[in-house]
Amino acid sequence: MKFSNYMILEFPSKSTNEAFARSAVACFAAQLDPTLEELGDIRTAVSEAVTNCIVHAYPEELGTIILRCRILKDNTLDIVVKDKGVGIADIEQARRPSYTTGGSERSGMGFTIMESFMSSLEISSCPGKGTTVHMRRKLSRRQ
Ligand SMILES: Nc1ncnc2c1ncn2[C@@H]1O[C@H](COP(=O)(O)OP(=O)(O)OP(=O)(O)O)[C@@H](O)[C@H]1O
Ligand SMILES: [Mg+2]
Repeated sequence: MKFSNYMILEFPSKSTNEAFARSAVACFAAQLDPTLEELGDIRTAVSEAVTNCIVHAYPEELGTIILRCRILKDNTLDIVVKDKGVGIADIEQARRPSYTTGGSERSGMGFTIMESFMSSLEISSCPGKGTTVHMRRKLSRRQ
């Protein structure tokens, strides 16, 4: 699909970079003149995806997270969050509300939140090689 602008960021899976990533996406998305609600939804979805990389993809050591945002022609923000971590064996199971391998600290709602806050969510993964989360959000056109 054609795009009119893009940005790519790469950063280590330090917890401090979760706030950085969601702020960076919000700054990039600002050119689409999003509503506060749209911006809040996008920030939350990015936060969930990046937190998953920090917590699950690289549980023992720091690894690389790649974040790519594109603006598609139909006022859609396209976001990819990619890691080269442990991967997910069963994606269908991982997407289920309340499913978590993170113990009592986590609620298993990250993918459910991403799905409900964004227009689409696609997950691809290869155990031992990493995970890619691809989200899109179509924004309203304000006059
Ligand atoms: N990037 C990733 N790499 C490896 N496993 C992942 C990744 N993202 C998610 N998972 C797996 O999918 C499960 C579900 O993720 P989800 O974000 O829905 O819930 P959670 O992270 O466990 O809890 P919450 O997001 O509510 O704190 C995780 O528990 C983990 O097993
Ligand atoms: Mg999560």
